Amino acid sequence: MGAGDGMSAIPPSVSARSLPRWAGTPTYIAGEDLQSTVNVAVALGRPLLVKGEPGTGKTLLAQAISEGLGLPILTWHVKSTTRAQDGLYLYDTVARLNDSRFGDRDVRDIAQYIKLGPLGQAFERAQNGERVVLLIDEIDKADLEFPNDLLHELDAMRFVIAETGRTVAATVRPIVVITSNAEKELPDAFLRRCVFHYIEFPDEALLTQICRVHHPDVDDNLLAAALRQFMRVRSLPELRKKPSTSELIDWVAGLRMAGIAADKLETALPFAGVLLKQERDTQKVAKIDFAKLAQRRF
Ligand SMILES: Nc1ncnc2c1ncn2[C@@H]1O[C@H](COP(=O)(O)OP(=O)(O)OP(=O)(O)O)[C@@H](O)[C@H]1O
Ligand SMILES: [Mg+2]
Repeated sequence: MGAGDGMSAIPPSVSARSLPRWAGTPTYIAGEDLQSTVNVAVALGRPLLVKGEPGTGKTLLAQAISEGLGLPILTWHVKSTTRAQDGLYLYDTVARLNDSRFGDRDVRDIAQYIKLGPLGQAFERAQNGERVVLLIDEIDKADLEFPNDLLHELDAMRFVIAETGRTVAATVRPIVVITSNAEKELPDAFLRRCVFHYIEFPDEALLTQICRVHHPDVDDNLLAAALRQFMRVRSLPELRKKPSTSELIDWVAGLRMAGIAADKLETALPFAGVLLKQERDTQKVAKIDFAKLAQRRF
């Protein structure tokens, strides 16, 4: 363990102790490789960095880990303006100023104006031995310094509230799940500290299972035909934006609501707008003879 990466402060085994093996949930289907990466990250006490196409279940994964392990979840949605400090705490000086002018509270107690952010709350709960799942969603939305700024606190699992002198220090490692849409490369120093998983686009068998979770009573023939047609569309090389898992789930819902028959899906693409989101893709697909395509490729 490199000097200064803080891992020695809390032994990894403390995070892993007494946690059951995570294996997905009844509503979140995880492949074997994802299951093992999650369990390794938990055992090592390292943040889990998840990448993958939009709609492949990155954000939902943290929720599923929390449900599967029976731990509470805290969520931090990163925006372009988010700073690392926002995750720790904010000092609400405006409220204090207002109270000093118009209120009847004792404004000398600064602690009441300190609002812990998601990372701060995770450490505070961990201070009392409570293990939580912390989702840092879409880390690549913020500027490049953001992940680097997080490094120190994620390593040390403690921080000081400068205004009050209070130290918040975790005694167990929260399970940190970080998602990225790969809009920006993340710094090497940050990557070194994470366990990485790329959620591959599911194969047909896994997609069938995922669809069944969302549509438990869907007709077998309709689901099989929808998946075949979906795979045909995804395999078109000219597509700019391939439809994802979440779009497939919506599409199946649409097909069911409209009562579309399974055999219609061999020759047509109803509700194309649920799957295709780029004008150029819609125009290209409109010209495709699906009946021919079905014979040629499948
Ligand atoms: N493995 C899965 N099991 C069950 N449902 C899934 C799975 N993967 C994706 N889904 C469905 O797809 C939807 C989208 O998932 P989610 O929002 O987690 O994707 P994402 O990868 O975070 O997408 P984005 O990059 O756009 O934020 C979920 O609400 C869920 O309905
Ligand atoms: Mg997401």
